[in-house]
Formats: sequence, structure tokens, C-alpha cells
Amino acid sequence: MYYDALIIGNGIAGSSAALFLAEKSQRVLLVSKGQSLEETNTEKAQGGIVYRGKNDSWKTLKQDILNASDGSALEKSAKVLAKIGPSLVKRLFIQKLRVPFEKDEQGEWDLFQEAAHSRRRVLHVKDCTGRVIQKALHEGILKEHLIEVKKNTQAVGLILSNRYQLSPQSRYEAPECLGVYLLDLRKGTITPFFARATIFATGGLNSLYQYSTGGPWNTGDGYALAHRAGAILQNMEYVQFHPTLLYSPEHSQTFLISETVRGEGAELINHEGKAFMHKYHHLGSLAPRDVVSRAIFEEMLNQNAHCVFLDLCHAISPEKIKAIFPTIYEECLYRGIDITQEPIPVAPGAHFCCGGVLTDSFGHTSIKRLYAIGEVACTGVHGANRLASTSLLEGLTFAFRASHDIIKNPAPKEQPRIIPFEYAYGNPPSEAILESMRKIIQDTMWKFAGLIRNQLGLKYALEVLNGLKQQAVQLKNQLGASGPLLEFENSIDASLLVVEGALRNPISLGTHYRSDSSMVQ
Ligand code: SIN
Repeated sequence: MYYDALIIGNGIAGSSAALFLAEKSQRVLLVSKGQSLEETNTEKAQGGIVYRGKNDSWKTLKQDILNASDGSALEKSAKVLAKIGPSLVKRLFIQKLRVPFEKDEQGEWDLFQEAAHSRRRVLHVKDCTGRVIQKALHEGILKEHLIEVKKNTQAVGLILSNRYQLSPQSRYEAPECLGVYLLDLRKGTITPFFARATIFATGGLNSLYQYSTGGPWNTGDGYALAHRAGAILQNMEYVQFHPTLLYSPEHSQTFLISETVRGEGAELINHEGKAFMHKYHHLGSLAPRDVVSRAIFEEMLNQNAHCVFLDLCHAISPEKIKAIFPTIYEECLYRGIDITQEPIPVAPGAHFCCGGVLTDSFGHTSIKRLYAIGEVACTGVHGANRLASTSLLEGLTFAFRASHDIIKNPAPKEQPRIIPFEYAYGNPPSEAILESMRKIIQDTMWKFAGLIRNQLGLKYALEVLNGLKQQAVQLKNQLGASGPLLEFENSIDASLLVVEGALRNPISLGTHYRSDSSMVQ
């Protein structure tokens, strides 16, 4: 089967692209590594999606994006997001998929406030917006006969045109992506799939860190595969840490405490019960994320503590807490904390990669016919620090732009040449080996490529990761290629991209803080 588009990843970016393409009669293959279509970071997004507030405009939103990024976001990408993003929310989520966003008693949108936003403009469904959006997208996809879905399927390599074989002149042209090798995780087969266009919507890399807000599937696959195929990546050192992960060491699953909780008035306090954020920024607990995360980290170091606290019970009544934050209330209660009565213990965790595969604002990468959208892409829209609740908007907006580019400029259908994948399928190493190697990555990244970095630590991380890489290649030569091993190799390569980026860049800005250089103001 030859497809108009192969889409790798089914979060908001991949699923929206599939729907936009199917709307225009394109045949799509949507690929998910997960056993269910719910294993995405979109599903985990609590806060919401940026829309338009009262007395708001695209110019105001664009300025907030630029301010949060310390002036480092690419203005033309921020303009695209701010101008067309909210109208796409209306078109796809409000009008087509009928996502039940909250309204107030007057029937107006009930918009959340979030840090570094100059307006209340975040549309939400209680505190589980991502889950509801993912479900709506999933239902929309199942209704589309032009979208074929493959679950339990991992992209393991890109198929590129062989420029030397095409013509003597073609070596001077950019390589073309003809499709991908897909590993069926249940059958253990690796098969080439071909399409006019391939879209990477593979999400991020936050599970490379010991503490993170994402699911275990966030292993940096898209960055690693695109890099190995020769695509250009940019800004990989800018890994954003969310300030408030629930601190509950006895539970292996991490849990996010949405920024909207601070937006509704919760204060960050230290172990002495003192609010501390105004020492660090005039916006206090609503300062940009990078500032808040580092301030919390510093308080934790100063007080030799594992966490600080988020006090919501002094800001909102118990009834209101339960009504607007039911998911957070229930989960904290389950873990022994009644957030209507006591402050929530919190600490920062890896959240979002602001860099990625370099694209223009239509998702074009440096490889022809390969698009990247959503977190895996770097359009420059976030610069060195992302503004809250723009990640869902980003996935939606650039999915639309890339889909329309594919429809308007269809690549010729080519006769696929069957080239086998470079490794035969084999059994994975034992889970004990993989688990201990994963732990080394997470520990190394957390300690040396986390909130605060320096040259010595980064060079040490580089050595550790290169050692792991050698071990992974040896295992692949001995055992053959399996899903977990290839995923592990992706984790190492994505970690190396972050560490190498952080080493190359001595300037502290936004999420990248080098303790051995001065902050750029
Ligand atoms: C949150 O609800 O705090 C996460 C939203 C985001 O990362 O944009």
C-alpha cells in the first residue's frame, strides 16, 4: 500500500494532521508505538489550550510568547501560532469535534490564567483538558475511513533516496524521505512503508530524566531517527522543567500539578511556610517557568529539602478546588494529601523539549518530504523557554500548516524499491539490563544536563552516554534489533543531542542555565 502521508505519533499533532489530511481525501497511515491511542503526552496535559481572552489579540499573545522566551523565540513562528492557532481551536475542537470546554454562568468561555500570560486565555475541560482532547481526536480518527491506524508499531529508520543512484547531478540536491521502516512490536517484523510525505509527530524526550511529567514512551525517538538520517536539529539544550511535580517519593508514577493551580491563586512556600517567589521575580509564583523552576531548586538547596509546597487551600474554597481541579484533588487524596486542607509538596521535573528537528513554519525539515510537527519540531516558536499551554496549540497549528502544504504540493508517487532494514529482528536484552541502563541515562541527565549545568558535568555526561552507546551497539550486533533496544538507542542519541547542545552553548538563557557563565539579561 502506498500512502499520501505516513504519520509517526498520534498525540495532538499527529492526530490533527491525520484529520486535516483525510478531510481533503488523502490516504493516511497513523502509527502509534503504544498499545492504545491514549499513550501520548497530549493525554497528560492538564491545564488547557490557549485561546483568545477578553481584550486580547494575536499581537498580545505573540508578545507574551516572546517575553516568556526572553526574546529568543522566532518572531515569525510566534506570529503564525498567535494568529491562526485560536481559530483552529475553534474550527477543529469547538465546531468539529465538539470538545466540551468549560463555560461560566453567563455562557462565556471560562478561561484559566497561567504564568507569564498577560490575559486569562486558556480554554480547559476541568483539569483534564488533554485527556478529553485526545479522546475526541481518537473518536474523530476512528470515523475516517481514509485513516489507517497501526498501534504497537515503532518507526525504526527513515528510507532515504539514494542520491548517488538517481543521477550524477542528484548528489547536489537535498536527500528525500521516501518512507519509514516500521517494526511491528507484536509480530517482530520490520517492514518498509512508503508515502508521498512522512510526518514526524513523535513528541518529546522527558523520560530521559529521573523526574519528569511525561509517560515512559517519551524516549526521544523522533530526534534520534531524524538526526541519524542527517536532518538538522536546533536548540536541543533548551529542555523545560515544569516547576510543580507532585513530590511523592513512595509512588513510582509522577504526577503534574498544573500551572493553572498557581493561576488560580496558589502560592509557593518553603519549609518555613514563607512565600519566596517575589525574591526571584516581580510576577512572583506566576513568573515564567524557567525562573520558577530554578527558584524552587535554589530554595530546595538552601533548605536541604526534597521539595517546596504549593498552598492552594488559602486561596480557594474547598468546594471550588474540588469543582475545578477534580483530577488533582483525587490523585493527591489517593496519595494521602488533602489539598483543600494542606499545602501540596512539589518539585520541578523535565517537561518539554523546546528544541528539535529544525523546520520552517510549514513543518519542512532539511530532508525533502520529511515534515516534523509538535514537540519534536523546532520552529523557533518557544525559543529558550515555552509559554504555558502553547504546546497543544503548537501541535494543532503546525499540523494544519504541514497538512495543507502536503495537499498543495503533492510529491510524485514513486515505485518503491525494497531495501531491507540494516539489522535483522532479534530478541531484546533482558528487562533487568535495559532497566539498569535506562536508570544510568536518567540519573546522568538529571544531575548533569538538568536545571543547572556546567562544562565539567556535561563532559562527564558525554563520556557516560558514549559508553552506553557502545554497549547498545554491541547488544544490537549480538542479538539483532528489537523494539526496546532500538528505543534505548534512541534515548542515548537524544540525550547526547541535549548534552552536546548544552556543551556548545556557554550562554545561560531561558531553560538552559550554565552555572559557569553569566546570565544574559
Ligand atoms: C500545566 O498544566 O501546567 C501544563 C501545561 C503546559 O505545559 O503548557
